[in-house]
Amino acid sequence: MLILGIETSCDETGAALIEATDKNKKVKLISNKLASSLNLHKKTGGIIPEIAAREQVKYIIPVINRAIEQCNNLTIDDVDAIAVTIGPGLIGSLLVGVETARTFSYIWKKPIIPVNHLIGHIYANFISEIHNSEFIIHNSAADVQFPTIALIVSGGHTDLVLINNHGSIKWLGGTRDDAAGEAFDKIGRLLGLPYPGGPSIEKEAAKGDPKKFNFPRPLMYNRDFSAKGGPASGWDFSFSGLKTAVFREISRYKDIKILSEQTIADISASLQEAIVDVLVYKTLKAAQRYKVKSILLGGGVAANSKLREQFELKIENLELKIPFFVPEKRLCTDNAAMIATAAFYNYKPIPWKKITANPELYFY
Ligand code: KG4
Ligand code: ZN
Repeated sequence: MLILGIETSCDETGAALIEATDKNKKVKLISNKLASSLNLHKKTGGIIPEIAAREQVKYIIPVINRAIEQCNNLTIDDVDAIAVTIGPGLIGSLLVGVETARTFSYIWKKPIIPVNHLIGHIYANFISEIHNSEFIIHNSAADVQFPTIALIVSGGHTDLVLINNHGSIKWLGGTRDDAAGEAFDKIGRLLGLPYPGGPSIEKEAAKGDPKKFNFPRPLMYNRDFSAKGGPASGWDFSFSGLKTAVFREISRYKDIKILSEQTIADISASLQEAIVDVLVYKTLKAAQRYKVKSILLGGGVAANSKLREQFELKIENLELKIPFFVPEKRLCTDNAAMIATAAFYNYKPIPWKKITANPELYFY
């Protein structure tokens, strides 16, 4: 089966082809193309939804063409189904992918599978092989044992979910305010670093001392695991207070321009450590409590080396003996390969007329 994935939830326009068989349930990535309006947003230090949507319109057809053309012997006739991100995301951006997928589904008479972007991030872990590539996937979750705990850390979301099987996901908790990626982005801006803040802070942090500033670890030891919808539960996160703590620290200097390079590096290292500590602690706590057989990480922030290392280190130190999976770095940030893969493992086509974009789509 050949699935064309389409992803346009934010500022990336993605199209990918995956090949998979029901027999061995392994996904081979045939092509994975991306165009991005990131450079336009760098000027404003954050994404302007209207600009992102207009760029999606420009890129969508060329990107889909490139994804298909890359495979010399393949044509659209060979595609068996179309997978498309329907949410969550920016409505203008989402509509471009959804309307394109609906149109192609109608014209080409192909089944269409709606995909939740956040679930897509989890499924980046399930890609097993890349066609014609020197690049080997070392850590595929294709043979993963359930139940598993997944932590999704992206620009707009931070969610902890329990997965009992493909298609059976229980949301345990999420952020009460800023997402982890959002905290990196906003603090990066406070520090005068280029957008997006996550990679910029990671780079600065490599030169800094993580113990220099003792930033808060919000909700880390909240032990109320019963709360639902009311006060924060033990599985919830909160990162806006951390942003305020960094802001206070910076405000001690009258002008941000006089912050020394070393101070910026130390603040970056200290706040990165605070975010990583909370994410790792809560995920491993949930893994133990639910006696899971594997742990999955996904989303743009999963590209952070410190976060990846700390997960591995703490799992080893606690002697948990639970396999840990994280996608290759380039598959952590938004892409269409993860959307096509999620559709393969959760193959539920619906009539094209019923596919609609839902910017508020969630796990529950
Ligand atoms: O998943 P993603 O590509 O888009 C959303 O679905 O939001 O995630 C983007 C987020 C941004 O907030 C970005 O700063 C963050 O992922 N990010 C990182 C790193 N690379 C991207 N955060 C920390 N360290 C990184 N290396
Ligand atoms: Zn994303």
